[in-house]
Amino acid sequence: MEFLKVLQERVSTRAFLEQPVPEAAVKELLQAALYAPVGMHRYETLHLSVITNKEILERVRQCAVKASGDKAADPLHGAPLLIVVSSSLEGDIGALNVSCLVENMLLAATDLGLGNLYVRGVISDVAKDEALMRDMKIPAGFTPVASVAAGYAASPAAPREVPANDVTKIDFVN
Ligand SMILES: Cc1cc2nc3c(=O)[nH]c(=O)nc-3n(C[C@H](O)[C@H](O)[C@H](O)COP(=O)(O)O)c2cc1C
Repeated sequence: MEFLKVLQERVSTRAFLEQPVPEAAVKELLQAALYAPVGMHRYETLHLSVITNKEILERVRQCAVKASGDKAADPLHGAPLLIVVSSSLEGDIGALNVSCLVENMLLAATDLGLGNLYVRGVISDVAKDEALMRDMKIPAGFTPVASVAAGYAASPAAPREVPANDVTKIDFVN
């Protein structure tokens, strides 16, 4: 897909089909993640957990149920794939690095025709669940920061109605 079209077509998907994401597509998402810029080239401070295990996905959902008190909470919206990005760096640099990987994966998923969602909220709850962190293979010293939920969208995404630059103020300083 033409690059600008990928940017325009990326929208958050919040209803996924159960259908799994093909392995080749998962590999492409991971490759896209690793093309991201990372402060001071410190790629060793990042870790990715690629989760397709239904029990683990359900335990992630349960973190949101526990935090919100809403039994029906589903921050992953049924996505069959969750890629959690963790950082061993404290402070904003870790989160900034993670966000670069996440955005690359969102765009790659769009290009592959996969629905995708930037999921941060529940990840802070996952970070408090030591057993889940262990079962997600997050190494000691790493904190999960954000994630990408991906899969086939249950319905085609509605095109964005209001371009972001109608609400985000831009000043030119010439
Ligand atoms: C840092 C960050 C955190 C986000 N966390 C969540 C989240 O936890 N759950 C969710 O449903 N969407 C989350 N989003 C998605 C935004 O709500 C969404 O990108 C925004 O409303 C714009 O809509 P669009 O993605 O369809 O263009 C997050 C986005 C960003 C950039």
